[in-house]
Amino acid sequence: MKLDSIKAKVFRFNPDEDKEPHFREYDVPWEENMTAMDVLDYIYQHLDGTLAYYDHAACKLGICAHCLGRVNGRPGLLCQADVSADMTIEPPAGKTIIRDLVFQRKDDEKEATP
Ligand code: FES
Repeated sequence: MKLDSIKAKVFRFNPDEDKEPHFREYDVPWEENMTAMDVLDYIYQHLDGTLAYYDHAACKLGICAHCLGRVNGRPGLLCQADVSADMTIEPPAGKTIIRDLVFQRKDDEKEATP
């Protein structure tokens, strides 16, 4: 089915400004073979440059696992998650949120340890 656009509900949390996490909804033009990462790229580039997510240094090939998250509650890699309808994008469950979709990774913890 061809869509003109989708609604993406995205988890937002800035610990410097927000008391609680919340969701913000965006209308995003749909394109064939679009992934959840493409949705985030569109939002960041055209709608809301304050959105934080792993993009820089991310492979977008399903290799680095920097883009772990949940789409409609299902865990997986955002760069490999096909978009075929309205969606909810969240960080992985049980992670410490740094901001929006950026979470504390094990690598970050090792680097912070002396
Ligand atoms: S960006 Fe590397 S696995 Fe998704």
